[in-house]
Amino acid sequence: MSSEDSTDAGISSNPLAMFVLILFGIILLVYLLSNPIKQALNYCRLKTQTVIMAGYWRKVTESHKEELDNFFQPLHMKKKEISENLDILEIGIGDGANFPYYPEGCNVYALDPEDIFQAAVQNNIKKYPHLTFKKFYCSPAEDMSFIKTGSLDIVISTMCLCSVGDVGKVLSEIKRVLRKGGIFIYWEHIESTNSAVKFLQALLHGTWKFLFGNCHLTRRPWETMESTGFSTLKYTKICVDTMPMINTTLVGSATK
Ligand SMILES: C[S@@+](CC[C@H](N)C(=O)[O-])C[C@H]1O[C@@H](n2cnc3c(N)ncnc32)[C@H](O)[C@@H]1O
Repeated sequence: MSSEDSTDAGISSNPLAMFVLILFGIILLVYLLSNPIKQALNYCRLKTQTVIMAGYWRKVTESHKEELDNFFQPLHMKKKEISENLDILEIGIGDGANFPYYPEGCNVYALDPEDIFQAAVQNNIKKYPHLTFKKFYCSPAEDMSFIKTGSLDIVISTMCLCSVGDVGKVLSEIKRVLRKGGIFIYWEHIESTNSAVKFLQALLHGTWKFLFGNCHLTRRPWETMESTGFSTLKYTKICVDTMPMINTTLVGSATK
């Protein structure tokens, strides 16, 4: 018997050595696969988000046409004010569900921390030849240092402030990048005005955040907006015809 054969026989006849070897193999396999698994799970989550948001906006378009038109009204008014193209940035843009509501003659800047939406936005905007696509920034909105101070006419956020890490930082950055007189428009789900739902939101908050990409159910962004120092702030709370956990919605505008 060669020395190699005797080593093999030694390991296979030693249960502890076999166990350590198998455990090591499993740990190595999990380590090697962890990144692809995380990426695959994130991909599924973002695809699910796209489907859910498409359903949400379909519902809003059917049941809240007037509120939606009012929401986008400041863009149309601003467009009438200036002869050049409007410089618009949409943060947390997803796949660009709001393009149908942009007026003719806009330079569109898009921002989302998820790179997967870059191709989706670039494809989607081709359906709207009246819009000029400028750039996709793959970044969270808390730090927009790559955008010049006072360089934009409009910033849009729909169903995004719920997911950001720091609402205060995002609002300060929005105010910074807007020109004087520039407008921030927002459509955001917030803490419910119904006490039973508010209780449920608080109860399910952690699980919801885990399942839906850091989406917070109980945020009160109007309070942060009030302390950001916009020159005018207008908002109203509406009840959107969707699931109670996210139906109380803050709709409004803030002017620099
Ligand atoms: C619920 S989706 C809304 C997508 C789109 N605005 C809509 O109305 O269909 C929230 C979006 O915010 C993005 N997001 C998450 N954290 C963000 C951050 N810190 N800054 C900017 N966007 C963020 C997500 O990647 C996601 O695309």
